[in-house]
Amino acid sequence: MPARGRSRGSMFVICDVCTSTISSAEEYDRHMAGKKHNEKLQAYLEKKRVAECSIFVKGFPPRTEENELVLYFQNFGPINKIVMETHEKKKLPARFCIIEFGSKEGATKAVEYEPHILNSSRLTVRPRSFRELKLQPYFPWEKEKEEKESRMLPWNRGEEDEDVNEMGPGPGFGGQPQLPSLLGAGPGPFRGGHPGDEQFYMDDNFDQGGGFGGGGQWIEGGGRGGGFGGRGRFGGGRGGLLGNSPGPDFGGRGGPDFGGRRGPDFGGRGGPDFGGRGGPPGGYPGPSGGNYGNFGRDPPTPLGPPKSIFDLKVGEGTKRMKGMPSLPGMGKKARKGKGADDPQDPLPVTIVELKKKCNENTCITIQSQMTYLVDLIQASPEELQQRYYICKVLEQALSPFFPGVTVNQFGSSVNGFGLKGCDMDVYLGLDKIGISVRSTNIDLPYTRDVHSLKKTSGPLQQADVDGMTNGDKCKLISRILIEHAPACSNTQIIPSTRCPIIRFKHESSGIKCDLSLDNQLALQNTRLLQALSQYDPRIKPLVYAVRYWGRLKHLAGNIKTGPRMSNYALTLMVVYYLQNTNPVTLPTIQSLADLSSTKTIIGPWDCSFVGSNFIPPTHNVQTCEELLAGFFKFFSHFDFKANALSIRTGSVLPVAKITLDNTMKLAPINIQDPFVLDHNVTQNMNETIRELMIKEFNIAAYKAERWQAIEFAQTKSLIDVLDDRVPEGFDETLALSSIPGIKLGEYQFLVELKAPALSPQLLRTLEAEGNMYLAWCKKMMGFLYTVIEKIMMFNCETVSTNMPDVCIKSRKYDHSAMSERSLKRGLKRPHSVVEESGDGESSIQEETSEEVLVDPRTELYKNAEFYIDMNTYIMCRIWAERKKIGNMLKERGFTDSMELEQTISERLYYDNHYENKSPIMEMRIIMKSVILNNRAEIMVDVSGPPGQGEFHCVYHYLKKFTLKLAEKFFDAQELPPL
Ligand code: UTP
Ligand code: MG
Repeated sequence: MPARGRSRGSMFVICDVCTSTISSAEEYDRHMAGKKHNEKLQAYLEKKRVAECSIFVKGFPPRTEENELVLYFQNFGPINKIVMETHEKKKLPARFCIIEFGSKEGATKAVEYEPHILNSSRLTVRPRSFRELKLQPYFPWEKEKEEKESRMLPWNRGEEDEDVNEMGPGPGFGGQPQLPSLLGAGPGPFRGGHPGDEQFYMDDNFDQGGGFGGGGQWIEGGGRGGGFGGRGRFGGGRGGLLGNSPGPDFGGRGGPDFGGRRGPDFGGRGGPDFGGRGGPPGGYPGPSGGNYGNFGRDPPTPLGPPKSIFDLKVGEGTKRMKGMPSLPGMGKKARKGKGADDPQDPLPVTIVELKKKCNENTCITIQSQMTYLVDLIQASPEELQQRYYICKVLEQALSPFFPGVTVNQFGSSVNGFGLKGCDMDVYLGLDKIGISVRSTNIDLPYTRDVHSLKKTSGPLQQADVDGMTNGDKCKLISRILIEHAPACSNTQIIPSTRCPIIRFKHESSGIKCDLSLDNQLALQNTRLLQALSQYDPRIKPLVYAVRYWGRLKHLAGNIKTGPRMSNYALTLMVVYYLQNTNPVTLPTIQSLADLSSTKTIIGPWDCSFVGSNFIPPTHNVQTCEELLAGFFKFFSHFDFKANALSIRTGSVLPVAKITLDNTMKLAPINIQDPFVLDHNVTQNMNETIRELMIKEFNIAAYKAERWQAIEFAQTKSLIDVLDDRVPEGFDETLALSSIPGIKLGEYQFLVELKAPALSPQLLRTLEAEGNMYLAWCKKMMGFLYTVIEKIMMFNCETVSTNMPDVCIKSRKYDHSAMSERSLKRGLKRPHSVVEESGDGESSIQEETSEEVLVDPRTELYKNAEFYIDMNTYIMCRIWAERKKIGNMLKERGFTDSMELEQTISERLYYDNHYENKSPIMEMRIIMKSVILNNRAEIMVDVSGPPGQGEFHCVYHYLKKFTLKLAEKFFDAQELPPL
């Protein structure tokens, strides 16, 4: 049998206890009877016993003392030992501890008891993780089976990752002194560190400095220490295995090794690799029966890397294999707290149900289907009633401490756009604290770490509340809820400078609630959406369809679950689209503010529109169907890279301008908060989600466009845009091209203006030129010419340009005779260029015969503000040995710069490779500026006469090299006068 995947026809068994391999029957007997093995076995059994008497505890507040924990937990049985988490370098409070009881019973009782509340905090108590070892040696492939089984332990199920992440640099306590740490002393931060404590999640606003690190898994019994501490990309964990092997073990799985277990796994143990010869040698003492049937079988198929981002459905793969990169939106933050398989709340109705129900109810038109969808998924009156009841619970729990506190709902549960089961958003009004009707004082919960409050008993007064930081208020409120509102469970604090949140779940209804402190602004935008939802009967079906679509496509949902859009952001996109439909449907917020007679100023901004109940009637007569199709079409063409959406003005804000003025944090998609103008509602987005969104907008637009076709008149349905089918004829490359509507040829690339990457000084200089885009294009054109002519040392003969001052030769060369010939040859262009304008028209320019007199390629730059068309001659391969010379020069003290790049080229040109007698290759390079709706780029079009095999490689080198240099050195280049 071929030994595919298994290493080179040999075999061995593994002794887990000693972390060593045994390769023959004699060695097996000797090993099992040996002193070393038996000592380790005894040590392991003792550890196992200790682990069974121990519990893991987290969730207590900072400054909780050891003796408080002991006092509390000794209620469950006598305690032998307590070990608090410590930090090697930073002096940080312990986040968890291990408590060892005198007997198993104590540990069992403590684990079974619920709830544990200490110092006003709800504790998490779990059996101490312990990874059992096989006491009998076993064949390598049996490991996998056992691994799976061990994961089925109740406390391992779905929580393994959490443990891995939160357990910091284990100090190694509890370990046998003579053994290496059993407790995973991995120093490397896992994902760069995180706040660790489950109660403190990071959100986009939480500027977390460093975190606690955390690395090696704290699992007793060895086997994994080195593993999760990380070999792969997470840095070097050095958790010891039970034995003495520092081998990579399962460590490889934390890393980018898509092959999973195959490679580094067993080989890493340092033992000889004997597997896979088709059967164990006769008489070999098969470990636990030895799985002979499987011996020599193919290893489990490793998971390959994902084919493209679109193969990965966000939310689909929480059970990803170790070693797989995490999915977009499915990072640790996303997985935590939400349940591994449920990154988003479930949808009130699945698409299959929707289809069935539409059929049952004979909803034929898209309009009726959209209205029906609203009925199916909108929050019911009972549900809304329940939310008011939860507010009452909160008020009752909090008012003894904060007399006069108000509990106010905002967000989708009251703005008219709530889906069934949606979260509930509440803010507490703490600005009108009055006199308590209570005659007696009430003890405050644990306040040892609430530094901005000096009291230990309430009720509090306005001055006390005003003196507290938001963080402290959150701590205090969450603890009050833990002690006095048992109906609220899973209380967590999500810190943020802008808006910290206390999150909990109302136990009996299952409703999740986000509680924030004074939040006038959220109240205002809730009012805006409320007004909108009632303004026009078409808006509700439109928003619901879009929200539902966003959720189905995993684009939108809850901001808590990763870098997706909030539903609020998606609703704002609908508002923006409505502001832009023709004839204008919605007035801009700016103009509404003008309509209002009384001014409302929030922060520095005029928010009078909130007070203006008057929204002029619309002249728009489009149907819901047309609006929905229009929405998809609008955003499928929208240039997100160059423009931010301003709801306030109903127009775009150029990203370059925002960068220049530094008015708001930029992200791959930018939507300015209509109230807080320096807040980007989508600041947590990432590029992957943007690309996914653009693709989905394009698919939906393509499908919705077909609704107009006569042949679909009978069969069209809302389901078309909601389901996952990608229609035939849909051109994905067009959807993903970087200029909406333009498809680049094979040998064309763009150098884009990425304003956020430029220095403020340069932006200001460009701006001062009058037209920033024009100025950038000119400068970039000059830069690119320099890179090609001076750094890549192509001999350049200009065919045509409107920038003669840029096209200057930096050294002596003359190819005028040759250029005549080449110019003609350059006309024969091997690759066609397809250009598609925004309105879908496309023109294909293809060269047809040698005798073309008018050069069709001059068409390329006919209307460009700037262009250079040149024939270039490559006289020396300045890329060969470039790195070597570069490193050598850097060792001599040269630093990265354009000058260094030039020196390297000159070295190669004059000293190493020399100039060729005749050109190695001739290429025609056309560069032209493209300035479109607040964006600017230079398109570089390269062509070489057919039959030059090297051309393809040189093109790609040219592209990579110029883009790299532009990124690194463009900023520092001098600006040519306009
Ligand atoms: P949510 O993300 O909960 O949105 O924000 P939502 O509209 O309630 O939708 P779902 O159904 O829960 O997903 C709650 C409210 O917080 C404000 C808005 O008022 C929003 O309705 N908010 C949210 C902002 O002001 N800015 C943001 O960036 C996000
Ligand atoms: Mg909400």
